[in-house]
Amino acid sequence: MFLKKITLLHEEDKTKELYPFSIPSIQSMSELDITKSVTFFVGENGSGKSTLLEGIADLCGFNSAGGGRNNTYDVEASESVLSEHLRLSWMPKVTNGFFLRAESFYHFASHIDNLGPAVLESYGGKSLHEQSHGESFLSLFLNRFNGKAIYLLDEPEAALSPQRQLTFLRIMHDLVREENCQFIIATHSPIILGYPDATILSFDGGKIKETQYEMTEHYQITKYFLDHREKFLKDILED
Ligand SMILES: Nc1ncnc2c1ncn2[C@@H]1O[C@H](COP(=O)(O)OP(=O)(O)OP(=O)(O)O)[C@@H](O)[C@H]1O
Ligand SMILES: [Mg+2]
Repeated sequence: MFLKKITLLHEEDKTKELYPFSIPSIQSMSELDITKSVTFFVGENGSGKSTLLEGIADLCGFNSAGGGRNNTYDVEASESVLSEHLRLSWMPKVTNGFFLRAESFYHFASHIDNLGPAVLESYGGKSLHEQSHGESFLSLFLNRFNGKAIYLLDEPEAALSPQRQLTFLRIMHDLVREENCQFIIATHSPIILGYPDATILSFDGGKIKETQYEMTEHYQITKYFLDHREKFLKDILED
């Protein structure tokens, strides 16, 4: 792993009324030590996961609409306003990597198409637009993800079936073991979150803090739902 610490600069004016400091977890953030090769960001919708991930991606030099260092293309409203307030501590520094933003992946696919067949070859040779959403994600993971690198993924599960989420875990595991790759992943998936020996950072309750798999709502609600589906549905659907 390469990225060891994320620091929010103290001396800055963190105006509570304005995005991104209007987000409680970002307002209260100071330093995050990263100790494992895989770090998950979890928390309620709107708790600030993507905001922090975009800030990190921007400082890594990755296109904040999604991509690596060499992917220059524009998507409206994708630039990070948090990155200028952040510092990253590396040991050692890597420049190779990728920022996956599920919501703008379509634009990334067009960008790769425009770069021509030689570049497309490094993504498996087939236009990402001519593959299903999930197939194109898998092509990206299998072909573009290699070497010593940091991968920042925002909801990689968005396109993946449960089976393919397990495939993704295997790909990630091999990259961590064989290449010492680092992953920071914002996710709502109880399957992806189940990866062993990862740090889970919760953005809930106005503060970023470490939690355990079994303590997450993702685990608890999914488990309760599967174990007591009829009762659960009765409770939420009737009156
Ligand atoms: N460009 C922006 N300008 C103003 N507010 C924003 C902007 N982007 C996000 N926000 C707000 O900041 C908060 C955090 O958003 P963010 O996208 O980081 O949440 P998230 O934890 O990734 O949520 P989700 O799980 O739904 O993806 C939200 O309330 C959102 O409305
Ligand atoms: Mg998000």
